[in-house]
Amino acid sequence: MMIILLGPPGTGKGTQAAAIASRYGIPHVSTGDVFRQNLRQKTPLGLKAGAFMDRGELVPDSLVLELAESRLKEPDCQKGFLLDGFPRTAPQAEALDAMLAAAGKKIDHVLFLTADDSVIVKRLSGRRVCGSCGTSWHLDFNPPPPSGRCPCGGEVIQRADDLAEAVEVRLKVYRSLTGPLAAYYEKRGLLRRVPGDASPAEVEARIKTALETPP
Ligand code: AP5
Repeated sequence: MMIILLGPPGTGKGTQAAAIASRYGIPHVSTGDVFRQNLRQKTPLGLKAGAFMDRGELVPDSLVLELAESRLKEPDCQKGFLLDGFPRTAPQAEALDAMLAAAGKKIDHVLFLTADDSVIVKRLSGRRVCGSCGTSWHLDFNPPPPSGRCPCGGEVIQRADDLAEAVEVRLKVYRSLTGPLAAYYEKRGLLRRVPGDASPAEVEARIKTALETPP
């Protein structure tokens, strides 16, 4: 199964991606996670991407496409994958189509997670992550260890792009560059809208229904 998980920041894409990937036995490919991992390791890619990410802006398409192309060629992606946070612009979506067509493949489903801005802001402002392994919590819904340390030993921190100013930029960028992709996939009959404003278990059940019910 080749699935794209689309939606504004904070709608629960990362949270749901883990469940979907495990249910269908496909790899979870998150461009944001790969950039953050590179940033923690201070690689040239991570350092280039980090400046854009911290401000809430998109990383340039050229960097994203290089990363996506090499990741999708890896053996674990040959029978299926779940893309989380990619594509995010029209050129990225077109390049993905071309990459897949060259390999005789195509996307099966595009899940579009939705939530009101008030829900999004609450989720992002309360998110805390491990600065070392990237594990994510939420101050109200899934609190981090009181010690302020992840079980891996890393420090629990707030992502720079979860600060109010960057969240505002991310929402604007989403509306102008990524939101229009919903229409791009809807025209092909691939889009499944899933309201993300419920408990993680309820959203997971909605996603299962969306994937397993013919359009
Ligand atoms: P990326 O990592 O992709 O971030 P995002 O799309 O902004 O999404 P988030 O990770 O913020 O939110 P999410 O929807 O995954 O929600 P989550 O499950 O974590 O990208 C980050 C940056 O990298 C971009 O801004 C850009 O700079 C760069 N980038 C990445 N890909 C790129 C690309 N293709 N092109 C260009 N640039 C790119 O949940 C959020 C919080 O809510 C958590 O605390 C969670 O515990 C909680 N939560 C989740 N679900 C629920 C629920 N149902 N109820 C209550 N709480 C919930």
